[in-house]
Amino acid sequence: MSISIPHDNVAETDGASVAQTQAEEPTGGVSRRSFLATGAAIGAGATLGPLGRATAAFGAPSSGTLTSGDAAILRFRAAAEILESDLWQQYNELGGIQDSEVPGGSGSRRYTEALERLDEDMPQYIHDNTQDELTHFAFINAYLESRGAEPVNLDRFRELPSSKATGAQQIGRLTNLMELTVDTSWWTRYRSSTKNSDFGDKFAPAVPDLAHGSFPAIPRSDEDLKPRKHIQAIANTAGFHFGTIEQGGTSNYPQLAQRVTDLEVLRVMLSFGGVETMHFQTWQDKAGNAPALTDPTNGLTFPNLKESSDEELKANLIMPEPTVFLNKSLPAVSIVRPTKTAGAATGAIAFLTADGLFKGQSPAFFEVLKTLAKEADAAIRE
Ligand SMILES: [Fe+2]
Repeated sequence: MSISIPHDNVAETDGASVAQTQAEEPTGGVSRRSFLATGAAIGAGATLGPLGRATAAFGAPSSGTLTSGDAAILRFRAAAEILESDLWQQYNELGGIQDSEVPGGSGSRRYTEALERLDEDMPQYIHDNTQDELTHFAFINAYLESRGAEPVNLDRFRELPSSKATGAQQIGRLTNLMELTVDTSWWTRYRSSTKNSDFGDKFAPAVPDLAHGSFPAIPRSDEDLKPRKHIQAIANTAGFHFGTIEQGGTSNYPQLAQRVTDLEVLRVMLSFGGVETMHFQTWQDKAGNAPALTDPTNGLTFPNLKESSDEELKANLIMPEPTVFLNKSLPAVSIVRPTKTAGAATGAIAFLTADGLFKGQSPAFFEVLKTLAKEADAAIRE
């Protein structure tokens, strides 16, 4: 049942309420409020291009074919979301909640218990992050088609093996979670008050051992379920990998959004990027709870970040530290970092490849990703 809201009860400053008011306005009837809203939008949007694109400024859906740049950016993001979905699916089968929203797998009790040492709600969060990624790629692909562009399908590359641990489905995968080299430098990057990777600054990893060698983030088989410190180290690796993946999305959406043309595509980029940030912030908080330990099977050591006296390592400093942005003469500010747009897509693929996430993939797979990334990086705002 739709409920009509009297205009006088709608705050003019509430964007959602204004949009709702406009939607309920009979065709041809122009209220003072909707005139104010659209009038402001014309000022902001009329110079952006042809009428089809400017309509997004009115809050109405954009129509017409996407620019080749916008399509390339969305196609790259669709591919990235498909890859994210594939990896999250593997985490969910063994350590999340398996249900009709995120089907597949039957869980690994010991792995799940180890994850729950980071937070008792980890299975729920893993489930929800997985569901979010599945909806992200399905939406972007459907949106591409609705705007006359080709969707992305990577199914032909689902050839990597599944974990043999009880609980995992035995199907082909796009990503490899069993030989990761996890870059945890995002931890100190978001805690630094003087550096920003947009200026070329480098950051120390929170877990130095994870930057060298290759480590499973899911049990490879039931052999990995013991000894206790070994499966805990695997769960800890997952805990940090979650943050590594989601900080990437947190940066990548604003990086690419700077080059889109259509206001509705910008709306997609902003709306998706914010959710990646919500994921990142959750995982950053949980990673800080990873128990300090050394894996007796391979020496992988997780430091005690909770009791660190170093401000760039301390676990509870999860709010982004204000730092330099745009120009070092400007005041320090709390921001997503990095957000430089040049090379954002190819950089993301290089980062994920260095992570070991695609170990075992075919040359054709890398060729497709490289092409999608190159086309996205060549996109310009028209
Ligand atoms: Fe996503």
